[in-house]
Amino acid sequence: MRQAGRYLAEYRKLREKYSLLDMFHSPELAAKVTLQPVTAFELDAAIIFADILLPLEGMGIKLEFVEKEGPRIGNPVRAAAAVAALKVRPPSETLAYVLEALRAVRSEIDGKIPLIGFAGAPFTLASYAIEGGSSRSFLRTKGMMYESPELFDQLMKKLTDTISSFLLAQAAAGAQVVQLFDSWVGCLGPADYRDYVQPYMRAIFQTLKHAGVPSIHFGTGTADLLPLMRQAGGDVIGVDWRTPLDTAWERIGPGTGIQGNLDPAVLIAPQKVLAQRTGEILGKIQGRPGHIFNLGHGILPSTPVDSVRSLVDIVHNYQAN
Ligand code: CP3
Repeated sequence: MRQAGRYLAEYRKLREKYSLLDMFHSPELAAKVTLQPVTAFELDAAIIFADILLPLEGMGIKLEFVEKEGPRIGNPVRAAAAVAALKVRPPSETLAYVLEALRAVRSEIDGKIPLIGFAGAPFTLASYAIEGGSSRSFLRTKGMMYESPELFDQLMKKLTDTISSFLLAQAAAGAQVVQLFDSWVGCLGPADYRDYVQPYMRAIFQTLKHAGVPSIHFGTGTADLLPLMRQAGGDVIGVDWRTPLDTAWERIGPGTGIQGNLDPAVLIAPQKVLAQRTGEILGKIQGRPGHIFNLGHGILPSTPVDSVRSLVDIVHNYQAN
């Protein structure tokens, strides 16, 4: 999940000077921001500071981050001509700045903690491209799926190719794990997931077998999608807090790791609640190998820094009994 961000004073200070896109586009600033949480807390891994939406820019989509609103797309992809116009270009041309930031961070933290690279999954990226920004109901996205399945397929294929080559390039640039964020896939039921999402995810994880690094497959609201996500691929499945971790792991089945799943809002709760909820999650694991402790979704801007520090301590000091 997000490690960097507005809950950190040192991040907010940089954001006074630079826009979000400026920070993503500069390998120096992106490397610096990646290291901020790593310096502040005893984290066990670092995630590169970038955004899932950046590959859309290289495809010809106009991306902005609007203060207090979130991502906005100037030319939403809703018709055949718009899908046809999308370009699939090599990441060395369009996303070289992310690859350079990965190399810089890797050389800083090499041998200490591993570096995580990431990309958005095709469905989640398609939803931003089609809706033109964040959405609650995903009606335009589902509209294209149901009314123009061939057009939706063309869009998903272009995204799949872009994402696959980007993740391979990230592994080559020094990412030691890659995570795929299918953040909004939980808006679909299992039948639609199987028809409209799983084939593309399967293709990406097939390609990732050549990356030489493990992969994490994450989504939110996925309680009933977990077995299908597992079939699609990923060495680890990331889950949000809406499903108890032991239930989620049973649904995923043996042989796959699990990542999660503290509700990020609990970091804003009193210390006692934080300790209790974290203990409950770790208790469900009962020392079984294959669990990566994490938040169930992105950290909230109002999170107290001291709560993050105490969460890291609670997890590190936990003794399974
Ligand atoms: O910790 C890190 O530095 C990792 C970098 C990271 C960012 N975005 C930076 C970012 C990661 C892994 C992401 C993933 C991402 N981006 C997702 C998937 C994970 C998830 O949360 O579901 C999604 C859906 C996005 C799209 C996105 N980017 C949205 C909706 C927003 C606005 C939300 C908000 O909080 O205002 C962003 C902006 C963004 N990307 C921020 C950060 C740190 C907020 C920073 C800021 O406003 O200064």
